[in-house]
Amino acid sequence: MNSAQQAIDQGGLAQAAAGMREPIGRWQANGGGSVFEDADAQAGALRRVGELLYILQRPDGGAALACGGAATLGAGAGDGEPALGVIPACPLTALGDATFCADHGLKFAYVAGGMANGINSEVLTIALGRAGLLSFYGAAGQAVERIEQAVDRIQSELDNGGHPYGFNLIHSPNEPAHELATVDLYLHRGVRCAEAAAYLGLTMPVVKYRVSGIYRDADGRIVAPNRVIAKVSRIEVATKFFSPPPEDLLRELVRRGDITQDQAVLAREIPMAQDITAEADSGGHTDNRPALAMLPAFMALRDRLQEQYGYAERLRVGLGGGIGAPEAAAAAFAMGAAYIVTGSVNQACVESGTCDAVRRMLQQAEQADVIMAPAADMFEMGVQVQVLKRGTMFAMRGQRLYELYRQYDSLDEIPAPERAKLEKQFFQMPFDEAWAGTREFFLQRDPSQVERAERDPKHKLALVFRSYLGQASTWANEGRAGRQMDYQVWCGPAMGAFNEWAKGSHLEPVEGRKAVDVALNLLFGAAVITRLNVLRQQGIVVPAKMAQVRPATVEQIEAWIGI
Ligand SMILES: Cc1cc2nc3c(=O)[nH]c(=O)nc-3n(C[C@H](O)[C@H](O)[C@H](O)COP(=O)(O)O)c2cc1C
Repeated sequence: MNSAQQAIDQGGLAQAAAGMREPIGRWQANGGGSVFEDADAQAGALRRVGELLYILQRPDGGAALACGGAATLGAGAGDGEPALGVIPACPLTALGDATFCADHGLKFAYVAGGMANGINSEVLTIALGRAGLLSFYGAAGQAVERIEQAVDRIQSELDNGGHPYGFNLIHSPNEPAHELATVDLYLHRGVRCAEAAAYLGLTMPVVKYRVSGIYRDADGRIVAPNRVIAKVSRIEVATKFFSPPPEDLLRELVRRGDITQDQAVLAREIPMAQDITAEADSGGHTDNRPALAMLPAFMALRDRLQEQYGYAERLRVGLGGGIGAPEAAAAAFAMGAAYIVTGSVNQACVESGTCDAVRRMLQQAEQADVIMAPAADMFEMGVQVQVLKRGTMFAMRGQRLYELYRQYDSLDEIPAPERAKLEKQFFQMPFDEAWAGTREFFLQRDPSQVERAERDPKHKLALVFRSYLGQASTWANEGRAGRQMDYQVWCGPAMGAFNEWAKGSHLEPVEGRKAVDVALNLLFGAAVITRLNVLRQQGIVVPAKMAQVRPATVEQIEAWIGI
């Protein structure tokens, strides 16, 4: 056995090919430095991510780590121990784009995406906001009055301390009036950051949000008080958000008296969104794009449009979708993501707006336990969402409803045996009763839908089917008894990755999953993994055990990062 192998067997660092690499300089303790020889000490040193480390060559093929002291680089470096390399500090503040954190008032470049129906709840957004992380309240699917209650609570808890928060703004092609009412609420209540999602093109409300209140300050800079972080999975849509607001919509806003002509002129010089989250394969609405292919394309678009428009403030791209383990977070930052966005893992946390039964289902999820199913909001367009497969039949049932929608033009056309099955198993009531409930809902929310359904039987069929899909997520959030097989739980493959990583740690039990704890662990893990990669790039073999970054308690992490 060679001596490098011996070092590895003892769990410590070793040189990949002993003697092959020339030292880059010399290191001396100078009375103050420390050297870490054994595996535990080395693992500890790598976790103190704020400290610069030196890699020291050992004649037996092993490698030690050192911190403090003094190093001289270069071939003729004089006295001291031979040093093979350097591991720069990687404080959590070094992950992502520092301007993103500064502009949004964040401690770290970490964002929790909106989760509809208040699944990203007030409690979740407040907890993350207090920790200096940006969380978007899940306003989608909620009545404006309910969203306003959330604004009240979140602002009363976070505004005073200047903590960050934002609200989700979902494109609602079926309910344009609701989208506008949501924007008016945000403007009226001074919600300064919105996560715009599910847009296929720009709408008047989202443009109104972005350009309202725009002005030129005393230094001549254009200031848009409202920031949009657009979450997008297609380049065409990203192009629209990285471009200035469209002229026709600006004219419309001037005509409506929402902005002045001067403001419309200023708006030509800003992008609709300075920040775009490239959303890869995620929970909920997703095109299932692979992050590795997607992020470079979005970054190339960013650079092209920055050059084309010459914006005063640089465009940025973050990455969401599939981040459930520190390796994924490290990869996102290594690829150049300005920030990371998580979703699925937050739903599994104690602060989320779902019920404990769903949290337990999520905790059981493995990598492949997710599947695409028809979306309630864009059902007729064939849009799909990613949901949990294990423990519920929602995806199968939703798919069946979509097939029937394609096949038949009215509820009455559906053959009797099929109808009987749907009424018994899916709706648990006759179609007439299901329509009565649906009609009642839309009379409150958007009466034009009822008028249309009464003229057009296919639209009536669609509304009834959509009511099943829509209620399926409410049943899941409430933990409705007798409806477990219909629970619609939005979830992506990140959940399985998280569960695998959390096994055997304090993050494994449902009650141990706290959003700030999860966020800090992902970021801290990413920092340690970044340092491990720097070691490897300098010809050092990292033994398997040391390469594992297990979840740690918040107290441990804070001690390591020196908070
Ligand atoms: C339960 C759930 C509900 C979601 N609802 C919304 C939503 O209403 N609006 C939105 O912009 N994104 C929504 N998302 C997407 C998340 O905000 C986030 O972008 C995504 O979950 C990140 O990918 P991941 O699930 O792989 O972590 C939802 C995700 C989940 C898991």
